[in-house]
Amino acid sequence: MNKKIVIINGPNLNLLGKREDEIYGKATLEDIKKQCEEIGEKIDLKVDFFQSNNEGEIINKIQDVDTKYDGLIINPAAFTHSSIAILDALRAIKKPKIEIHLSNIYSREEYRKKSITSEGVDGLICGFGQNSYILGIEAINKLIYN
Ligand code: DQA
Repeated sequence: MNKKIVIINGPNLNLLGKREDEIYGKATLEDIKKQCEEIGEKIDLKVDFFQSNNEGEIINKIQDVDTKYDGLIINPAAFTHSSIAILDALRAIKKPKIEIHLSNIYSREEYRKKSITSEGVDGLICGFGQNSYILGIEAINKLIYN
């Protein structure tokens, strides 16, 4: 395995499976993590998985990316719509970076339609449920090898 990425998950995503499952699905974060690791093995990409409810811990993890990883996938969860600090951290990263969401944030409440953090990434995938993670891995792999 030569290339390595990190998938960063923001607040409340540790509750997946129990939390508003009509929107976010029945899969737990652990199920999604396993699926991502399996896909990674198939395409020879090491996948690290990280979740925090704490903005500062997420920023620290983003700051590690340029030295420790070849790319970053982030689901900033509710911080998507509020965090200029996470946007600034993402902007500082030179490696490929993709934002993902389980739900289609553009078909939901008005306050979810603005993604502040997506201004700091190469691209955005949303609305495919847990498959947003899989599509994110495929997309980051293309960006890494381009
Ligand atoms: C989410 C969408 C956000 O608006 C929300 O706050 C989340 C999950 C998603 O994956 O669909 O926590 O990022």
